[in-house]
Amino acid sequence: MEVVIFSTASLDGRIATRTGDSKLSCEHDLRLLHKWRCWADIVLVGARTAIVDNPGLFVKRYPCSRQPLRGVVDGSFRVPHNLRLFTEMPWLSVVITSWRGVRQNQLKYKHLSSKGVRVIIADDESKMNMKRVIYRLNELGIRKVLVEGGGGLNWSLVKDDVVNKMEITYVGKVLGNGTQVVEGEGFLTVSEAPSFVPESIRVCECGKCVHVSWKRIP
Ligand SMILES: NC(=O)c1ccc[n+]([C@@H]2O[C@H](COP(=O)([O-])OP(=O)(O)OC[C@H]3O[C@@H](n4cnc5c(N)ncnc54)[C@H](OP(=O)(O)O)[C@@H]3O)[C@@H](O)[C@H]2O)c1
Repeated sequence: MEVVIFSTASLDGRIATRTGDSKLSCEHDLRLLHKWRCWADIVLVGARTAIVDNPGLFVKRYPCSRQPLRGVVDGSFRVPHNLRLFTEMPWLSVVITSWRGVRQNQLKYKHLSSKGVRVIIADDESKMNMKRVIYRLNELGIRKVLVEGGGGLNWSLVKDDVVNKMEITYVGKVLGNGTQVVEGEGFLTVSEAPSFVPESIRVCECGKCVHVSWKRIP
């Protein structure tokens, strides 16, 4: 199982301003993102990103013979049914949620299921354990997972230590506030935080950002 986080961040490690503006990527960065989408079996975002950005998560900017599954991680099953993920469906999309989320949103569950959206139930409570989520995806034959944020979902994955790589594009902007690449309660000590080493560092063709590939090490 491979889990890769792809994020485009400001120099101060933020992926959106405090008003939610996340338009940080240049054309080359978007192409790189779509190359990663082409690599993946499934592309995931958190519930808030799905609501705020309403992404389609298609592979469009990179030649690709396949489309990955597209999905949202939403433990409380609060995403609306009219997201692009569910209305633009030439390829399958999924909601990864909990039993609690489904119990509390039975009508939405039935509606989305009847439209062909696959609802994957990965845990009991709405705060899901990401090891369970990844295990469930693995059971379904999904091996390559690309996570496009936001910070809350990234934190859940880092906290439960299921991330193998972090592909971060650092853009020459300082936002001063807003959502961080990884945003959660955080670790108490440096020693308990997972370690990553840079595998490659590359200045972007646009000359204004740097692509860094970080690999998880024991
Ligand atoms: N620049 C970039 O590369 C980039 C990329 C993506 C997003 N963004 C920006 O980031 C912002 C959104 O980030 P965010 O941190 O606020 O939200 P987020 O990570 O997109 O979504 C958080 C939500 O994901 C669900 N989730 C996360 N961990 C979970 C777990 N362990 N179990 C169950 N559900 C879980 C929860 O949904 P429930 O509450 O329903 O349980 C949680 O509220 C937006 O402004 C967006 O534009 C930027």
